Amino acid sequence: MHSTAAADAFDHWLRTDFVALNTRLEEAGPGSDRLEQRLAQEGAVLVRRIAEEEGRAVLAADRDTRYELLGSVGMYLAACRRHEVDAPQGPQSAAWPLATALGASLGVAPRFVFAHQAFCNRAVGDRIRTFTSFDDERTFIVHNALSGLAYRRAATALGGVGPLGASSPMTEYLLREALAGLDDVMDFGTTLSENLDVDRFFHHIRPYFKSHRVGAAEYRGANAGDFAAVNAVDVLLGLCSPHDPFYQAVLAEKQPYLPPEDQPALRSAVRAEPLLDVFLREAERQAVTPQLRENARLLLALCTRHGAVSSFHHHRLVVPFLQKPASLLPEPEDLTSSGPPLDMVVAQLARLVDLRTARPRAGTFGARDRLDRLRTAAGL
Ligand code: HEM
Repeated sequence: MHSTAAADAFDHWLRTDFVALNTRLEEAGPGSDRLEQRLAQEGAVLVRRIAEEEGRAVLAADRDTRYELLGSVGMYLAACRRHEVDAPQGPQSAAWPLATALGASLGVAPRFVFAHQAFCNRAVGDRIRTFTSFDDERTFIVHNALSGLAYRRAATALGGVGPLGASSPMTEYLLREALAGLDDVMDFGTTLSENLDVDRFFHHIRPYFKSHRVGAAEYRGANAGDFAAVNAVDVLLGLCSPHDPFYQAVLAEKQPYLPPEDQPALRSAVRAEPLLDVFLREAERQAVTPQLRENARLLLALCTRHGAVSSFHHHRLVVPFLQKPASLLPEPEDLTSSGPPLDMVVAQLARLVDLRTARPRAGTFGARDRLDRLRTAAGL
């Protein structure tokens, strides 16, 4: 990693005093003006120093260094938002120009996103970067990140099938690998749901992931869906279609929140022929060999697994950790990370679950017919 003195000082602060201040603020509750001001002022001084002394050098640095720094500046801005020390002329506005320049240089939204915590969260002395020192926050970040890596493993395996075809023994290996990846996503999600404390998450962790302003624009919050692999699995399997207007809107909305390396990955995945179509063509056109039958069985198992994981996310994570505690609040607040009201977000997530579980919906894209046809054609 390329680093500079002012950027190193900021990184050190983020790993020490910043964490201590956020943790004390969570424990003290609202109204600790002195601590809130300290957080906003200390961060502003350090970020201004980077911009003034090293602005040119950081923008000339390699992509990963710039992305990591954007994550750092973004965590500071997200903490100011969480503690509501974020008036338009407040100290945190000193960080807007650097965040904006870094975002523009990378072609991404100028804020911290899921990938900063999951895929470029450098551990130092056994500690990853977090907002607070609560074990629940670490558990949340680690399990989100592990799930993201496991989705990536599944997507990479599925991406290798195209040139091999439906009846290859190498395809069997790749489909088993993808299935193992999705099994891991399920296991990590299960561990998370069993170990995360609902109240701690809802009141002291989730608020750091809200929308906030950078310069003239408001950018929606961070969520564990902002990486391309989950969508690559959707479209490579054939459960979601890049030609379906509903799904197109999902992809377009998330584009600026993806890490830079995921943008080409998503573009190539949406151009690939869905495996469900490849398998169906082969199974309906010729006699089904034992290898094709085994591969078709694995593909169908993968589709079922992908649906089950998505359904788990909805019913065992979104509902108990967000929707239910939100329903107990006296007044609605901006609860989702994406900005729209919670009901709308939950409805969109439910529609994604329907697509991934191939639940028929009149007049819209769905894979139920093709899944049934493949099962019949392959004699399963
Ligand atoms: C307590 C844990 C979690 C909660 C409460 C939660 C909640 C949510 C919510 C509310 C959204 C909609 C985005 C928005 O807020 O506007 C979302 C999106 C998403 N989350 Fe989670 N999530 C959790 C953990 C996870 C984990 C472990 C994964 C696995 C990688 C994950 C994967 C996704 C994906 C892929 C999306 C994008 C929508 C989709 O494609 O289905 N989430 N999550």
